[in-house]
Amino acid sequence: MHKAILVLLSPIILTTLPITGLADDKPTSKDKLNEKCPIEGNIVAPDHVYQYEGAKYAFCSEECLQEFAKARTSSLYHKIGGKTAINAAVDLFYKKVMDDDRVNHFFEDVNMRRQHNKQKEFIGAALGGPTPWTGKDMRKIHSSLDLTESDFGVIAGHLQSTLEELKVDPELIKQVMTVIGSTKDDVLNRRSTSE
Ligand code: HEM
Repeated sequence: MHKAILVLLSPIILTTLPITGLADDKPTSKDKLNEKCPIEGNIVAPDHVYQYEGAKYAFCSEECLQEFAKARTSSLYHKIGGKTAINAAVDLFYKKVMDDDRVNHFFEDVNMRRQHNKQKEFIGAALGGPTPWTGKDMRKIHSSLDLTESDFGVIAGHLQSTLEELKVDPELIKQVMTVIGSTKDDVLNRRSTSE
């Protein structure tokens, strides 16, 4: 290709690159990278950088980078559409929850903006997203609410119908609901039924 044309096209080529990948991952001085490898905890090397959903993650070795990359692309989080899908799902989910008189009273005094963000973080992490959940323990959060099996069923039902409405693959919905179901003992503050 003629050099002038390439120069003109380069911004278009760069902005249409996929958000996930190893292309152009060399950090620039503007990037603030993590200092410790998310896999091994060692100091990172600037030539082992992986980009996912626009964020850059540095590693101490190529093996760690590959392990992290594989975990990302094989995760349920990735398969249902990543951050964009989770954000859309949680927003629609809370709309359904707040329209439902069986459960909306629980959220009367809750800062819903914060709640949306926390739920996005939690579900994202639970489905294998890149950022681990560092928030409060599920048991502690819900223990004062005196929730019942039926409350849990209503909330889980709204999540399921949200995913159906967003046309997520039924097999993936099943897998997401299994992950959400695994929080039930904690949310209902009861002894583990899986032991
Ligand atoms: C289905 C599984 C559930 C998951 C994964 C879940 C997850 C969460 C998360 C991530 C938070 C925010 C934590 C934080 O503030 O750091 C939260 C808070 C809350 N959840 Fe759940 N939850 C579930 C079930 C329920 C149910 C069944 C109810 C009631 C019907 C409920 C009511 C609440 C309320 C009221 C809060 C706010 C508590 C507060 O700010 O004091 N949750 N939940």
